[in-house]
Amino acid sequence: MAQIGKDIGKAKELLEAGQLIGFPTETVYGLAGNALSTEAVIKIYETKNRPNFDPLIVHTGSIDQISKYTYPFEGELQKLAERFWPGPLTLLLKKKPIISDHVTSGLDTVAVRVPDHPLALDLLKSLDFPLAAPSANPFGYISPTRPEHIQDQLGEKIPYILDGGECSVGLESTIIGIEEGQVIIYRLGGTEISAIEEIVGKVLILPQSSSNPKSPGMLKSHYAPRKSFILGEIEALAEKYNASGAKFAILSFDKDYSDLEPHASFILSKTGNFAEAAKNLFSAMRLLDQSDVSVILAEELPEEHFGKAINDRLRRAAAK
Ligand code: TXA
Ligand code: MG
Repeated sequence: MAQIGKDIGKAKELLEAGQLIGFPTETVYGLAGNALSTEAVIKIYETKNRPNFDPLIVHTGSIDQISKYTYPFEGELQKLAERFWPGPLTLLLKKKPIISDHVTSGLDTVAVRVPDHPLALDLLKSLDFPLAAPSANPFGYISPTRPEHIQDQLGEKIPYILDGGECSVGLESTIIGIEEGQVIIYRLGGTEISAIEEIVGKVLILPQSSSNPKSPGMLKSHYAPRKSFILGEIEALAEKYNASGAKFAILSFDKDYSDLEPHASFILSKTGNFAEAAKNLFSAMRLLDQSDVSVILAEELPEEHFGKAINDRLRRAAAK
């Protein structure tokens, strides 16, 4: 089992020795290793069972550190970096040769972000290399938002999890790039579209595609629980599953469906607060996935604030 603790010195020592650790950020926990070490990067792919065509995000402690790894950014991206870093935003930037093809899966851009978490920033500032860190879940499963989530699934494979408590945002970072002057969102996430558009004007949100994805996080079946996960109108679904005698769980936004007698249930935010719903989403999916039911019934949120990003995760979880 991995040790769980708050010791930055220990985390630094392990990373300097080429090992991987569980790494807290405000979005979700990462599985971190030295981004400049090919061995550590390969270990990340192996530990997660991640296909090597799915590139990693590189984390640094400040904007200034990034110029060592990327060429100067285009104006719009610079504005976004200044406004949102540290924070749940990842930018696709032209990489310098120091960033290996293993990190970027051979692309000429590297995904970079400065996370907004005090322990993560202290650790990054103490290191003389950046950290490559995908979400710390086995490939295709729900991202972790607490140390125990990593312990459950990857605890046998890594020595240490740096305990930064529960992630405050709970959705992965928004991924943004620019092509021929057009700002493009590759993954909806913890930085809201409206806030981004206030800075750079109208953005293009890439439609999801399960074939040949530009950003493989766009694979449809990503974030899937093990139990069957059905998205739709809860009352009608509950009626159907009740009639068939199947045990079901209900994952709802703000409504209480206990009168439908689910075997397990989770209300993401009783007050209909989108940020609270985002923060609870992945924990709730895990909890219901572990409950004694055969199917999880879930409903979409209104497409406002984080609703769009949450619906994106729910749809992928429901995709076969
Ligand atoms: O919030 C986050 O972004 C978390 C925390 C740990 O920072 N990390 C995370 O990493 O979600 P991961 O590996 O689970 O998702 C990274 C996504 C993948 O979908 C990958 O395909 C995409 O970023 N990506 C990475 N580099 C890319 C590039 N050069 N071009 C396009 N997509 C890229
Ligand atoms: Mg991931």
